[in-house]
Amino acid sequence: MKIKKTASDILDKAILMRKSFNSAIIVAGGSGLRAGEGIPKQHRRIAGKHVIARTVDAFEKCAFINEIIIVCRTGEEKLYEKYAAKYGWMKVTSIVPGGDDRFASVIEGFKAVSDKSGYVYIHDGARCLVTPDIIQAVGHQACISGAAVAACRPVDSCKTERDGGLKNLDREKTWLVQTPQVFKTELYRAAAYTAMKDRIAVTDDASVAEHAGFKVVPVNCGRENIKITSPLDFVLAEAIIAEREKSNV
Ligand code: C5P
Repeated sequence: MKIKKTASDILDKAILMRKSFNSAIIVAGGSGLRAGEGIPKQHRRIAGKHVIARTVDAFEKCAFINEIIIVCRTGEEKLYEKYAAKYGWMKVTSIVPGGDDRFASVIEGFKAVSDKSGYVYIHDGARCLVTPDIIQAVGHQACISGAAVAACRPVDSCKTERDGGLKNLDREKTWLVQTPQVFKTELYRAAAYTAMKDRIAVTDDASVAEHAGFKVVPVNCGRENIKITSPLDFVLAEAIIAEREKSNV
């Protein structure tokens, strides 16, 4: 009986996801220079394709995503128009310049979201190994709980600094949080307003929702959804892509 109810609930939420207007905001407004080579990481290539194109393409492939807003560095709008033509993007409705930090960039993107938007999918442009399956899994959970994030469990022991020493964190209850982070659009609007009013410092959007008292549910998406940050990440990403291509043959 319980299982049946759960199954029908899952089906309802899947239908809701397809019926809702789903907006993606892809933030690529950072300098991206920690990755080396003097070129912002989002404009470097991995296995022949631009990092940002890999990211945007994953969202383009999701039938349930209705619009994509790209947040770029100031002055890069024309470059993104070239990418849009080269990669055949059909869902990119706005390309807007970002702000001084990630949250400010998300807010710039959020301003361009359609009035029809039911859910907003916020994603780091640098997380180019995201897949349509990951996007769908997180979106599905957000339809159930209002707010959900991609995450994975740590494999190392985790400790936090406390009272001048270290304190162990229970690995079974610890999450490494990734993107996409998906929210009911009205929930995120209210949470972002509160975060700006309270001037809190945030590194992700889940913190914005948590600060406003909303519960955010993690979805285990595994360890491949890495954020390209350092030169080593390019090597890892090439290897993961090669593995994926092998298993698709
Ligand atoms: O710097 P970090 O890699 O943590 O940034 C995460 C994402 O946020 C990146 O895709 C980056 O381009 C974006 N970002 C942004 N605007 C900023 C800073 C970062 O869009 N001012």
